[in-house]
Amino acid sequence: MDLPRIFVIRERNHRVHNPFTEQKLALLGDVIRLRPGQTMLDLACGSGEMLCTWSRDHGISGTGVDISTYFLGAARARAAELGVADRVAFVHDDAAGFVAPTPVDVAACIGATWIGDGVPGTLALLEQSLVPGGLLLVGEPYWRIDSPDQAVVEGCGFTSRDEFDDLPGLVESFGRLGWDVVEMVLADGDSWDRYAAAQWFSLRTWLDANPDDELAGEVRAELDTAPALYVRYRRRYLGWGVFVLKRR
Ligand SMILES: C[S@@+](CC[C@H](N)C(=O)[O-])C[C@H]1O[C@@H](n2cnc3c(N)ncnc32)[C@H](O)[C@@H]1O
Repeated sequence: MDLPRIFVIRERNHRVHNPFTEQKLALLGDVIRLRPGQTMLDLACGSGEMLCTWSRDHGISGTGVDISTYFLGAARARAAELGVADRVAFVHDDAAGFVAPTPVDVAACIGATWIGDGVPGTLALLEQSLVPGGLLLVGEPYWRIDSPDQAVVEGCGFTSRDEFDDLPGLVESFGRLGWDVVEMVLADGDSWDRYAAAQWFSLRTWLDANPDDELAGEVRAELDTAPALYVRYRRRYLGWGVFVLKRR
């Protein structure tokens, strides 16, 4: 069980694998008023930047779960670098169905709601690990316009408009599921660029170093098209944010 290699080639230099800058991640940690000693579970934690920096900045402890051995290695190295290796742990496991052995104060899934087959299932999964009254964090895309046509949907890399809601629809859906939205931090064009444009540099440096690799053709093709596709579609039409929820 591991993440396909193309994802690592694309994002091996990212610390944050979503359209947030490190500043937005820090802002999110501030606005949810973390306190020293609080505990957190991060499902599909990627390279663990959220857990590591929030442990350093707020004194929390926690566990991250991911299928990528490469990203988990980066997470453990980052924990050591920031001096928090005694407070955060990273587990190689499938996050689908993962429940913390001891309930936590904050349970998160940032940018991977497929682990619960969509938002409702992911909230239900996370809640199984949450103390009563705890905070749930979910990172999710949304359409920035009401009714994107099929060219926009496909240009953003999806097949159906129904894969996501618009922002009002997404926020209303949390209420229907019985959660109050108590905070949110949204991506913007600049923070999207740090996620998307940073991939192109990683693709190109990898291609230069590995011209004969079996994935070289795929990487070349992606580099040929990704920048223009991104500025035409995702950067304009796809929003992304982290929503902070508390059970009603
Ligand atoms: C978009 S990245 C988000 C990573 C991290 N939450 C962040 O925001 O930096 C998605 C992550 O989900 C992980 N992933 C995908 N499927 C998974 C699964 N079934 N169980 C655990 N992790 C998974 C990938 O390895 C990747 O690290």
